[in-house]
Amino acid sequence: MTKLEKIVLSYSGGLDTSIILKWLQETYGCEVVTFTADLGQGEELEPARAKAAMSGVKDIRIVDLREEFVRDFVFPMLRANALYEGQYLLGSSIARPLIAKHLVGIAREVGAHAVAHGATGKGNDQVRFELAVNALDPSLKVIAPWRQWNIRSRMQLLEYAEKHRIPVPSDKRGEAPFSIDANLLHTSTEGKILENPAEVAPDHVYQRTVDPVDAPDRPEIMTIGFERGDPVSVNGKSMTPAALLTELNGLGGRHGIGRLDLVENRFIGMKSRGIYETPGGTILLAAHRGIESITLDRAAAHLKDEIMPRYAELIYNGFWFAPEREMLQALIDHSQAFVSGEVTLRLYKGSASVISRASPCSLYSADLVTFEESAIAFDHHDAEGFIRLNGLRLRSSAARNGR
Ligand code: ARG
Repeated sequence: MTKLEKIVLSYSGGLDTSIILKWLQETYGCEVVTFTADLGQGEELEPARAKAAMSGVKDIRIVDLREEFVRDFVFPMLRANALYEGQYLLGSSIARPLIAKHLVGIAREVGAHAVAHGATGKGNDQVRFELAVNALDPSLKVIAPWRQWNIRSRMQLLEYAEKHRIPVPSDKRGEAPFSIDANLLHTSTEGKILENPAEVAPDHVYQRTVDPVDAPDRPEIMTIGFERGDPVSVNGKSMTPAALLTELNGLGGRHGIGRLDLVENRFIGMKSRGIYETPGGTILLAAHRGIESITLDRAAAHLKDEIMPRYAELIYNGFWFAPEREMLQALIDHSQAFVSGEVTLRLYKGSASVISRASPCSLYSADLVTFEESAIAFDHHDAEGFIRLNGLRLRSSAARNGR
């Protein structure tokens, strides 16, 4: 084992990373610096500081990354309307490159030659962390204790915790908690009973959305303002990116919006089942598509839709800092120059529906599309020729096929 002077650990203060902290100190006998990111996971972060201090950590970093997360990661991704496998809004995937970026920054600042993370050997997150570190600082060594130690199960993990007097958290029901990853964009829950996709997820899995059945019987009408593809206001009130997403999470959560029960294909090769709650993100996706519907040219919109699955897969697979993601981003960002205006939505029992949209840069022409008499010159004979030419090869084929 190479001798390391200092390791920067991505530390949540939860059970796994508390054990990892202990294990790193014992295994490498070197200083461990902890880095805890506030991504709006809705948890007090001071306990993480106290726990790290109790474990003898001298350099404890707790950084509020909420604005950077939403402004530089969530919103750019939203400009693409990114969904993995048609449904997943990528809430965990998009947080990893940001955490990795700061891990690398701190490692450089404190002169550490290694960073460590608590992602397991079966998941996507290890790949995302490490590809990001590779892209940002290839000189850094990455330590992934879950792949190195001989703890092989959660059971053994609990035993290790007990042996080292590390407090084991339990959920409100006194049971071992699910594997949860939360931030301002979503809450993801995996493990335990959810590992059987044939089982219905129990109610207590849901953390930040009400069951649509219990949502208010009265719909709520709300408006989102966009500027160049990014949401900037809610009900006419300008907000910073993180404040805006927080506001929409509250609204969406109350109306049961953004629940998803999904079996997905992990990059590493297996299928997994998880429950996602993305209230604000779900509202934003509907609203963004709404404003794009009147401001984007058809071919531009369709091209965006073609590259979207590829772009989403790059983020899912951990290639945020790869050149092809940056190339696609440039294309997507360019498309957003006129994506400004206001979208009104109705939130009601689990759904966020666009009910009106308006933009100073709209391409929509009522005069052109109207069923009534129109001032704009539109020669109906042109449509006849248009159809005749488009039908030319179909008529040829039909004649040959003897239809
Ligand atoms: N499957 C999701 C993804 O790969 C979430 C992973 C983290 N979630 C968790 N509950 N551990 O993006």
